[in-house]
Amino acid sequence: MKILVCDKTEKEYVEQMRAAGLDVDVKDEITPEELMTTLPSYEGMVVRSRTKVRQPLIDLCPNLKVIVRGGVGLDTIDAEYARSKGITVMNTPLANSASVAELTIGFMFALARSIPQATASLKAEKWEKKRFEGDEIGGKTLGLIGVGNIGREVARRASALGMKVLAYDPYIKELEGVKLVQLDELLSQSDYISLHLPKTAESTNMIGADQFAKMKDGVRIVNCARGGIIEENAFFDALTRGKVTGAALDVFTEEPPTDWRLLRLDNVIGSPHIGAATREAQGRVGAEVAQKLIEFARSHS
Ligand SMILES: NC(=O)c1ccc[n+]([C@@H]2O[C@H](COP(=O)([O-])OP(=O)(O)OC[C@H]3O[C@@H](n4cnc5c(N)ncnc54)[C@H](O)[C@@H]3O)[C@@H](O)[C@H]2O)c1
Repeated sequence: MKILVCDKTEKEYVEQMRAAGLDVDVKDEITPEELMTTLPSYEGMVVRSRTKVRQPLIDLCPNLKVIVRGGVGLDTIDAEYARSKGITVMNTPLANSASVAELTIGFMFALARSIPQATASLKAEKWEKKRFEGDEIGGKTLGLIGVGNIGREVARRASALGMKVLAYDPYIKELEGVKLVQLDELLSQSDYISLHLPKTAESTNMIGADQFAKMKDGVRIVNCARGGIIEENAFFDALTRGKVTGAALDVFTEEPPTDWRLLRLDNVIGSPHIGAATREAQGRVGAEVAQKLIEFARSHS
């Protein structure tokens, strides 16, 4: 089976697939235009978040049998359309969870103690002790929107740090150690709100001016899920009015962003979509991608 690896994948796992008899080509910097002419001769593809697989590309590839997304979010793939064409679409749902959860917890500490701003001030050779009085996160309430694999890992860590954990997830009926509540209750009770839901038609812009109005004054927000779940004009307004004290963003509506307005604010910190960028997560993703493709090839030969 001919496989095209379109995004960065650890060499060790590419070799594992080759050793299992797959014919694997790696073109991990392929452009969307090149993909249109290259992909039609392949039966399988491996993508991460960089490569988008949309309907027009799928229509050009009658030989394509399987798409494996190393990672979680399938919003970069027209997955339903691909499946309607008989293409199997798989992801690696658990490989990233711990890494994203750790980044989320790190962001909460960074917001509570203004660690990035204090570092910048110190490097500018200033000694602003008063400016950087912060808060403890122990004893505070964390509201999780979406409590699947990553949300649960965050909940477990936050509980161990002494936080009270609330969650809103209409698709979960009960969860040990977490109080499931309606969205309005979460918004009004939480000191920290962290997003861990997929970007879907339902969740796009689900946090807007009405939702900010229901939040506690001085709330802090972490988004390691997807850009575009929070409506950006309302977010900007809440951050500049002080309704939201600080925000930490790993994900953006456009990546890299073309509109840097939010990131220019002093009370916004962030990172360039690195939630899953740890050696451990990359290793687990690579191993799971290889295992899934090898099994797929065996069952379809
Ligand atoms: N920053 C990163 O690098 C990175 C890495 C991995 C995943 N992610 C993002 O994190 C998201 C969550 O990942 P996961 O592994 O926990 O996925 P998951 O599918 O295990 O959990 C998602 C949860 O969100 C819930 N949900 C769906 N729609 C909702 C809605 N409208 N309101 C509230 N809850 C809703 C689902 O019921 C589910 O429990 C992914 O969809 C992806 O977008 C980001």
